[in-house]
Amino acid sequence: MGQILLVTSMKGGSGKSLLSVHLLVAARSSGMTSVLCDADVQQGTALAWQKMRGTSDDVRRVHAGELAGVIKQNTVDLLIVDSAPRADTDVARMAALANFILIPVRPALPDIAAAERAVAIAKAARRPFATVINAAYPRAPETEEARQVLSKLGEVAPVDVYNRVAFARALGAGEAVTEFEPTGKAAQEINELWSYLRKHL
Ligand SMILES: Nc1ncnc2c1ncn2[C@@H]1O[C@H](COP(=O)(O)OP(=O)(O)OP(=O)(O)O)[C@@H](O)[C@H]1O
Ligand SMILES: [Mg+2]
Repeated sequence: MGQILLVTSMKGGSGKSLLSVHLLVAARSSGMTSVLCDADVQQGTALAWQKMRGTSDDVRRVHAGELAGVIKQNTVDLLIVDSAPRADTDVARMAALANFILIPVRPALPDIAAAERAVAIAKAARRPFATVINAAYPRAPETEEARQVLSKLGEVAPVDVYNRVAFARALGAGEAVTEFEPTGKAAQEINELWSYLRKHL
């Protein structure tokens, strides 16, 4: 049975789907077999990306209640689960099945406050987790301030992901930044984030 990486946060727009898609591509490039489970069935952001990509084996729609079954049947090395922005029993159930929980947080006060609830879910599930600062603005002091506050809740990933137009462009083309602009800064951030996560999986 493969590993399960849950990407979750209670705050809409924190970057769960964006990072999930990028981590799928990064995992595959590193030689792991991987599938992305889009558990945000109402929005289906990852599924929409797959449609742009023109593939059918990257992302599958999975209801929270189906995840345990999908895990049992699957033979891939890594299942990445992109959750909806909710602190409900579905997310708690998925957290209990995860080997690692990644919590993207924008470096802004409401987002940092909401991170506490996601961390509480990870702690209740007794699963290893880390927050990751996403969509940070270069040279803005808020990034370091966010890191300080988040580090009080638990581990913070050692790489910040910046707000970069390359991310939106890549997704719009059905790609990841590592495919769209492999030598760019966004790709470097994703590669570093993946290297960090890989050590935990
Ligand atoms: N680092 C980034 N740089 C540029 N744009 C970003 C970045 N992170 C996220 N975005 C953009 O912000 C928007 C929200 O991101 P995304 O859909 O990944 O968030 P989400 O957490 O999945 O949201 P939801 O809770 O609604 O599912 C998207 O348009 C995405 O492209
Ligand atoms: Mg999403």
